[in-house]
Amino acid sequence: MFITLEGIEGSGKTTQAGYMVEFLEDTGREYFITREPGGTKIGEKIRSILLDTESKGLTPHAELLLYIADRVQHVQEKILPALSKGLTVICDRYYDATLVYQGYARGLDLKLIQKLHEIVLENPKPDITFLFDLSPEIGLKRAWTRIEKETENSGETRFEEEKLSFHNKVREGYLRLAEREPQRFQIIDAGQTEPEVKKQIIKILESKIGK
Ligand code: TMP
Repeated sequence: MFITLEGIEGSGKTTQAGYMVEFLEDTGREYFITREPGGTKIGEKIRSILLDTESKGLTPHAELLLYIADRVQHVQEKILPALSKGLTVICDRYYDATLVYQGYARGLDLKLIQKLHEIVLENPKPDITFLFDLSPEIGLKRAWTRIEKETENSGETRFEEEKLSFHNKVREGYLRLAEREPQRFQIIDAGQTEPEVKKQIIKILESKIGK
């Protein structure tokens, strides 16, 4: 079972990933939790280039290729082996994020993004994708509150610093993808309280993979 989590900045998906792990542990399932960009040693290095505010000069195509490089490494080194061992894989962001951020929001050709993936990797498709839907005004406020609370400033805020219009395109892009694949996408109203979101997610997991 391959589960991915998607949503705008500050949508709470990473916190909810922790609750999914609790559910899997409580129900005795073996799992592997990971994220993109990152998830491998090489990927974490690529992540710092991608998210660093000092990478402002990165061109949209260079950005796209770095996300794909990260994914190729991650899929080969971690995701495929975990899936073939029968583990439940939870991945915080995946291919849909590239379609939405680099495609819908940055304006790169969606067909090019798809084609490049087809050329360089076997792209396992998620069984369930949770889309944490939220207005960017609220999401960005939450994201900046979290960043300001961090004791060590990571400087990884290149996307949070994008304009509101960029984040609106991200939200719309995700909703469009979800509309195209209603079987795979589970849209979660991330404006609810944390316990309410958790309850909804556990209910979906129970119905999809059992108690
Ligand atoms: P995170 O903060 O949720 O870990 O995600 C890092 C940032 O990278 C987030 O702003 C979304 C962005 N991103 C892309 O632009 N394209 C991608 O393919 C992925 C996986 C993430």
